[in-house]
Amino acid sequence: MADLDDRRIVLGVTGGVAAYKAAELTRLLVKAGAAVDVVMTEAAGHFVAPTTFQALSGRPVASGLWDSGPRGMAHIDLSRGADAVLVAPATADFIAKLAHGFADDLLSTLCLARDCPLLVAPAMNRQMWENPATRRNAAQLGADGIVILGPASGEQACGEVGEGRMLEAAELCEELVAFLQPRILAGRRVLLTAGPTFEALDPVRGITNSSSGRMGFALARACREAGAVVTLVAGPVALPTPRGVVRKDVVSALDMRREVMAAVDGHDIFIGVAAVADYRPVESRPHKIKKGSGNMTLELAANPDILAEVAARPVRPFCVGFAAESQNLDEYAQGKRQAKRLPLVVGNLVQHGLGGETNQVCLYDDHGVHPVPPGDKLSVARAIVTHIAGMLS
Ligand SMILES: Cc1cc2nc3c(=O)[nH]c(=O)nc-3n(C[C@H](O)[C@H](O)[C@H](O)COP(=O)(O)O)c2cc1C
Repeated sequence: MADLDDRRIVLGVTGGVAAYKAAELTRLLVKAGAAVDVVMTEAAGHFVAPTTFQALSGRPVASGLWDSGPRGMAHIDLSRGADAVLVAPATADFIAKLAHGFADDLLSTLCLARDCPLLVAPAMNRQMWENPATRRNAAQLGADGIVILGPASGEQACGEVGEGRMLEAAELCEELVAFLQPRILAGRRVLLTAGPTFEALDPVRGITNSSSGRMGFALARACREAGAVVTLVAGPVALPTPRGVVRKDVVSALDMRREVMAAVDGHDIFIGVAAVADYRPVESRPHKIKKGSGNMTLELAANPDILAEVAARPVRPFCVGFAAESQNLDEYAQGKRQAKRLPLVVGNLVQHGLGGETNQVCLYDDHGVHPVPPGDKLSVARAIVTHIAGMLS
């Protein structure tokens, strides 16, 4: 099932340069399963032609208040039954109109008459964004319960650098998907570990494993979508940080332990997804080890068990462990759960190494084994979050 299946989104496009990004946004929303009704201001039509949005959404594009075609009352009808109105880009002008309740074109009237949530993605020159009038208007939107996405900082179409850029289409799509998820972890603080650890032998070599970090990152995203405040301690992986998640990068198991122990107080949930190396070289050489003629023996020291340590604290968060096993999954996963006194273990049978795009897991708790339907890692992560929230409620 796609992220926005059965959802209908009204996408408002106003007259800023970033209107071109709204075309990509339309494509992504449609790809995610949404029915997208695009509504353009007159100014938006100077930047991108309605035909582009009509082709990408496969639906008629509305613009004029007085020429709404077969819809008698487009300014009312369009938002009825919609899951959200998203205005991207939102000009300074449009934000001002929203703040003051103007209704002199189709999009502003529709926003005023809506009966669903409204999200806006400001996009403008940095001076326009910093102008006290715009800041006042944006603050008013926040106070009125309108969700403001961004803006981001960086290079602007006018050549200046600063805050005011619209978020990228993919980021907006992710934010909208997150916004529409049930807030089942609202008010909770979650600490996760993800990825492998790297145990250095010398400056260029080390011991690691094939964990890609994708499952832990997907869980961090799913927890944040569910309304939690999320901190992610990540081993060496090449993955973007899920939006809204605080990330701390580490390399070795000892680094990871240090970060987790420094952060764990005040967290309600700890999820140990990282494939922490069980052992590290006793000695990490300061210079590259030179090749010799014969064999070489490595002496390894046991690494700390971070999850067991967190779970053994007198005041402990709700602890979730992961068990990736190549055989006897039920026995090992339940054994791990009991040995570490964990309320929940997520077990998966690893037959072809770690790091794939999809996953198939079973959840082990006091009530037994709960298989999760196989799927991409984000949908599996959401199912795990639902189970955790159910156990906590
Ligand atoms: C070339 C050009 C680029 C513009 N880019 C922006 C912009 O990025 N953000 C913005 O707030 N206004 C921008 N404006 C000004 C808006 O187009 C103008 O305020 C217009 O009235 C907005 O109408 P609307 O809010 O009804 O779409 C731009 C104007 C021009 C001529």
